[in-house]
Amino acid sequence: DPKKMEFTRSVLFDFHGVQMTKYFTENWEKIQNFQARPDDILIATYPKAGTTWVSVILDLLYFGKTAPERHTSIPIYERVPFLEITFPSMDSGVDLAENLATTPRLIKTHLPIQFVPKSFWEQNCKIVYVARNAKDNMVSYFHMDRMTLTQPDPGDWNTYLHRFMEGKVLFGSWYDHVNNWWKKKQTYSKLHYMFYEDMIEDTGREIDKLCFFLGLSPSAEEKNQIMYGVQFDNMKKNDMTNYSTFHVMDFKISTFMRKGEVGDWKNHFTVAQNEEFEEDYKKRMTDHTLQFRTEV
Ligand code: A3P
Repeated sequence: DPKKMEFTRSVLFDFHGVQMTKYFTENWEKIQNFQARPDDILIATYPKAGTTWVSVILDLLYFGKTAPERHTSIPIYERVPFLEITFPSMDSGVDLAENLATTPRLIKTHLPIQFVPKSFWEQNCKIVYVARNAKDNMVSYFHMDRMTLTQPDPGDWNTYLHRFMEGKVLFGSWYDHVNNWWKKKQTYSKLHYMFYEDMIEDTGREIDKLCFFLGLSPSAEEKNQIMYGVQFDNMKKNDMTNYSTFHVMDFKISTFMRKGEVGDWKNHFTVAQNEEFEEDYKKRMTDHTLQFRTEV
């Protein structure tokens, strides 16, 4: 596929204390100066926490009734632009976001909280943050880095595990990301903090909580349609949500809608790796009000 030739695996570098790559920093001025509007909704996550799942839920909540064709004709990465992305020969995330004609604009970011453009805070925008337990998040990220040809080379699993623990992956430390966003919740009331594991356990309940936060009250029928549209198998089948149209991913290596489970880490971690990981985890996760489940 000639389209794949334009992309090369990127190299991590320290960017204001966070490991980043050129594809997410080249447009920095424009990203930082992005003008948010008061009704914009920011979907913020550490990569692989369930961003796409929540993005589709939000898109269907806002537009599923008035524009249901979006779900079968527009890739999710165009419906919900990824703010900081700049890939060669593709519209930048900022350009896509600025050109969105819908209200509200749904915008995705993986930025650690200190990098979020200040206009989102000034405009008091609603923010939906999704977090996923570190072990499953890491496994999902490992496979993503293997199959996405623009990501830094993940190396083998054991190398990757240690890099993840040290924050030497794109967008930096998972530990800092989930903790700093969690802290923000105490002072910024328009932040809704969700967990992937809760969504797996009871998607309907989590959609209800999300609707309460957003001030939405979908009918039972609308909610059923959303639940159906965002079921793992249905999102996996839908080319507009499964990333099969995104040419930097090699689906022969892995898929985007890969497993969609809690606990796949058990198929990756050895007993020794798990012990080492757990010991380190306790040292880093000192705010015990933030708790993750590694099984449901
Ligand atoms: P796995 O690799 O563990 O399967 P993101 O959208 O943040 O990149 O996250 C991708 C992860 O969310 C993948 O995890 C993907 O399978 C999972 N995911 C996406 N949609 C899902 C859904 N409807 N139900 C469960 N998991 C989903």
